[in-house]
Amino acid sequence: AKLWAIVPAAGVGARMGSDLPKQYLTMQGKTVIEHTLDRLLTLPTLEKVIVAIGKHDGIWQTLLSASSHRVLSTIGGRDRADSVLAGLNALKTLASDDDWVMVHDAARPCVRLPCLEKLIQKVVEHDCGGILAVPASDTLKQSSADNIVSCTIDRQEIWQAQTPQMFKVGQLREALAAALEGGYPVTDEASAIERAGLPVMLVEGRRDNIKITHPEDLPLAEFLLGQQCN
Ligand code: CTP
Ligand code: MG
Repeated sequence: AKLWAIVPAAGVGARMGSDLPKQYLTMQGKTVIEHTLDRLLTLPTLEKVIVAIGKHDGIWQTLLSASSHRVLSTIGGRDRADSVLAGLNALKTLASDDDWVMVHDAARPCVRLPCLEKLIQKVVEHDCGGILAVPASDTLKQSSADNIVSCTIDRQEIWQAQTPQMFKVGQLREALAAALEGGYPVTDEASAIERAGLPVMLVEGRRDNIKITHPEDLPLAEFLLGQQCN
């Protein structure tokens, strides 16, 4: 089976609050999304990456990555799941349903090659979808509406989901379409797969695979990118 990737990059970055969507902010002379694509494209076995861009995106076409022969683009949708589904539809003529696809946030430029390799190895070995994740390290509090703690959650079994999330192309397309049709909240691909009753493997990654979400994440990501890549 071949390996493909989808990079959802059609968000507006409301929580970041910057003039440009966060995937187009610059770190170390390159946009966030170009750093992200560079990391994915280090995988020699990756066939192509489909980037889902916003309908009124005026920046993507100006980037060097847009002209790479291993990078294609399509128009994303209203929610992340719509964007990923658009990517899967764009893959229809290229990939077989039994191929693997990794979905990776444009806003996660710090992912490292050994983590990508570990995810691929585990998923292929067990022939089961999987995601990079880390065990929760903070103590977790459930709050009532007025920010008063209602209870402490046992963090023993709690993991924080990251990306990439890797599944069979056909399975993911069906699961996402069904979840969207059912109106279920799908904030990641795994939740759609779970809805479909299929197993998702947790593959332990690294805490520095952060998603740039809030303004303070940008300098942190820039620092992490400068760290030796291994
Ligand atoms: N994304 C997308 N299509 C959407 C919404 C999000 O492709 N309709 C992408 C984002 O571009 C990002 C990834 O999904 O790379 C993770 O989403 P998130 O961090 O929530 O990004 P935004 O939605 O842009 O940010 P915010 O929620 O703060 O507006
Ligand atoms: Mg969002």
